[in-house]
Amino acid sequence: MKKINIAFFASHGGSNFQSIVENIQSGNIYANASLLISNNSDCYAFERAKSLGVPFKHISSAQFEDSLEFQNALLALLDAYKIDLIVLAGYMRKIPQSIIQKYKNRILNIHPALLPKYGGQGMYGMFVHKAVHESGDAVSGATVHIVSEEYDEGRILKQESVAIDSEDTPESIAEKVLAIEHKIYSVTIKEIAEGKIKLD
Ligand code: GRF
Repeated sequence: MKKINIAFFASHGGSNFQSIVENIQSGNIYANASLLISNNSDCYAFERAKSLGVPFKHISSAQFEDSLEFQNALLALLDAYKIDLIVLAGYMRKIPQSIIQKYKNRILNIHPALLPKYGGQGMYGMFVHKAVHESGDAVSGATVHIVSEEYDEGRILKQESVAIDSEDTPESIAEKVLAIEHKIYSVTIKEIAEGKIKLD
């Protein structure tokens, strides 16, 4: 069985990135953490990559004349590292069409709610947890899905829920959901690497 090469995309903290890389490095996931890409040169995820020994690159559309040049540079980078799977972990930019087409069914995202609820444009981070809190829902959770052209609409690969109680705040919901994210993102990638989840 071939080890899959994973590129992570993150914009900020990178706690999902770290938890998946730890699972790779401990031998729990049969894959290579080949590269971390961020649009944000100041992201804390880069600090984590340094400590974990994962190569990292800052690449942003602002560095290029136009979107096509940016897309070509991104594609060249993914090619150079022979990337099989792209894992979005808090990446705050839309993935360009050309990348979605070239890596069809090979780009994963994690969303901090039980999709299709609380998905779509503008639904990210604390906006999601505030909406869940205001709705009075008794559960929230996390969803791992394939990235397609539309926000949060690709095939769902895994979900897990967590109970919300009356004392919960948006912040405490976020904490509970993040713990679920760390769990199900690694499990999903492990199952992909072992061929138990088929992406085609
Ligand atoms: C997570 O809540 C994830 O659902 C969302 O962005 C957040 C990233 O957190 N897509 P971190 O950067 O992995 O800590």
